[in-house]
Amino acid sequence: MDKRFFIENAQAWEGQVVCVKGWVYHKRSSGKIRFLVIRDGTGILQSILYAGECPSSCFEVFESLTQESSVEVSGKLRREPRAPGGFELAVHSLKVIALAEPYPIAPKEHGVDFLMQNRHLWLRSSRQWAILRIRSTVMAAIARFFEQEGFIRFDAPILTPTACEGTSTLFSTNYFEEKAFLTQSGQLYGEAGAMAFGKIYVLGPTFRAEKSKTRKHLTEFWMLEPEMAYAGLEDAMQLGEKLVEFLVQTVLDKKSSELELLNRDFKKLQSIRAPFPRISYDEALKILRDQAVAIEWGEDLGAPHETALGEAFGKPVFLHHMPASIKAFYFQQADTVGGPPVESGKYALGCDLIAPDGYGEIIGGGAREEKVEVLKRRIHQHGLKEESYSWYLDLRRYGSVAHSGFGMGIERVIAWMTGAEHVRETAAFARLIHTLRP
Ligand code: 4AD
Ligand code: MG
Repeated sequence: MDKRFFIENAQAWEGQVVCVKGWVYHKRSSGKIRFLVIRDGTGILQSILYAGECPSSCFEVFESLTQESSVEVSGKLRREPRAPGGFELAVHSLKVIALAEPYPIAPKEHGVDFLMQNRHLWLRSSRQWAILRIRSTVMAAIARFFEQEGFIRFDAPILTPTACEGTSTLFSTNYFEEKAFLTQSGQLYGEAGAMAFGKIYVLGPTFRAEKSKTRKHLTEFWMLEPEMAYAGLEDAMQLGEKLVEFLVQTVLDKKSSELELLNRDFKKLQSIRAPFPRISYDEALKILRDQAVAIEWGEDLGAPHETALGEAFGKPVFLHHMPASIKAFYFQQADTVGGPPVESGKYALGCDLIAPDGYGEIIGGGAREEKVEVLKRRIHQHGLKEESYSWYLDLRRYGSVAHSGFGMGIERVIAWMTGAEHVRETAAFARLIHTLRP
């Protein structure tokens, strides 16, 4: 056992004298009793000062304490079902490390702009704390999942010379005498990894100069991108649903008190079990028409359409075989849903996983074009420079095979799991169109 006491391990310390090193969450008085709620980063603990049980100097210290002052509190830990977390500390000694200045985030309501400007402090609030603890659990679960599945972690560069997802959302930077872009996706490099190692995953930050002000778009977000050789569209969907099920069930198992704090509906998460329904874009159009949010064939789904699909299924649903005209250059194409690949078809062999409750697309991926000549023509059609992709074309020149993969947006997955209002709450320091600070 850890020598030092942490609140999250309170159970193991019942009946012992412990020292909590933390910060004042809040305090109140009731007659002769003083309540001091301490947070130590791992949880919150109510401590109580009783006259006669602790020296009067403790009461003086208590009076001086301000919200977020750092303190060391010692006392006996006992079970108390009425206290948050089920334990309580009967204080013997109370020491101030640093008195805090008047804290800007009072327990009253604040606007989001103010909270985002004070993100470095907002992180200490219970909801933000719970969301980011869940994010940490998800990141660890991803590593475990892919280890179990025999994938190797293969990280792609962040500074890149080319676009992966179209040229309209690239951030550029000076790279000595030339221009470089912040990566939009590690996929193209991941494909090289799949040809070298069979099954890989890329995990890291990606960047998009998105002008969209929605609750789903960040300009910097983390993406998980598995890529598999000798695999097709269905393999990508099977991997995606197995992964999402594993992540949800791991969070339910390891972070139930955080989910409770966030008032997340457990039943909804418990029901997230693979396989997920799969519908083609054409079928989705029919559902959308029935739900009175029709779109024309060839149009991309927007937020109201994704929300309607989520409502129709109540669990994540795969959308596949989208119009080729709205997808990136690297997708394999077909003339019919389920038909064989063709050079230039109506459909792209893509798969997007749409989360319920309006959280939108959490996974986007599909099958990659295998033929070098076809890819070359697509690169030209998309107005891209062939020279920039010559290394990528080599992957088709030297032993090309069917391969597929996807990208999962970490912040969107966390937003859905935690029920966060906006993806900005799911990154420690989110980057948005008007948010570069702190
Ligand atoms: O659908 P996208 O654009 O797909 C790709 O980038 C592929 N190259 C991935 C691959 O096949 N390896 O992005 C993948 C996912 C989306 O489904 C979404 O979850 C997330 O990344 N995403 C964003 N998350 C937050 N903010 C944004 N601006 C995002 N754009 C995409
Ligand atoms: Mg997408």
